[in-house]
Amino acid sequence: MEHIKIENLTYAFKENRFKLNKINLVINKGEFILFAGKNGSGKTTLLRHINGLIIPDKGDVYISGISVKKNRKKARKLAGMIFQDADAQIVGETVYEDVAFGPENLKIKRKDINQRVKEALKAVGLTEFEHKTSYNLSGGEKRRLAIAGILAMKPEIIIFDEPFSNLDYDGILQIIEQIKFLIKEKKTILMATHDLEKVVRYADKAVIMDNGKITAFGTPSEISEKLTQFGLVI
Ligand SMILES: Nc1ncnc2c1ncn2[C@@H]1O[C@H](COP(=O)(O)OP(=O)(O)OP(=O)(O)O)[C@@H](O)[C@H]1O
Ligand SMILES: [Mg+2]
Repeated sequence: MEHIKIENLTYAFKENRFKLNKINLVINKGEFILFAGKNGSGKTTLLRHINGLIIPDKGDVYISGISVKKNRKKARKLAGMIFQDADAQIVGETVYEDVAFGPENLKIKRKDINQRVKEALKAVGLTEFEHKTSYNLSGGEKRRLAIAGILAMKPEIIIFDEPFSNLDYDGILQIIEQIKFLIKEKKTILMATHDLEKVVRYADKAVIMDNGKITAFGTPSEISEKLTQFGLVI
């Protein structure tokens, strides 16, 4: 079933010449999609359109038929994004407050917020950190905190932007476990990564971007030849 539809999406930054040019893409419910491409090819910029952080100049993104352009707030609720820079995502003084922030904004009952925060912290292994100061966590812990914050909002779509950067081996394994859990939960997962080899076996499809355009889209085996340019051997 069609979940995300990107239709003729065009967007240019005013500051430079980069442009996402007439992007079309359909992602089905429950799919795990990888976004590959060189630095500056437009992966982050494209993904930021899906939850309405950027609004296209032309074209639109639809989530279950709902226009993101016309329903930015709803889009934020439906699609949660975990940024590459975990520091930028911290909004709460303590770990608990940080994870509670999203559900509070959704105007959920206090009792249910508490439940959601506990569940989310458990899922990322941060239960013991509940009362710690968010800013004092390590880089890897902050990444897990960001994931917990998104999980607590229970979005249908989860977007990861370079989730493996700056993580040690254990941290990487924990993220992979998270992804496997989300796949089991039938979430639609989008991930921009340079570390394709870590997750390609779980992915349904991959998108390759180059200079603001999609140059390949298909199952990893369908586009395996094109994936070799990223050091991937399938
Ligand atoms: N906020 C911004 N303002 C102006 N230009 C930007 C902004 N964000 C990104 N760009 C430019 O848009 C282009 C695409 O950047 P983007 O971050 O989407 O690439 P990317 O594929 O995610 O790269 P990376 O692999 O390095 O994360 C780059 O040329 C970048 O300089
Ligand atoms: Mg990026």
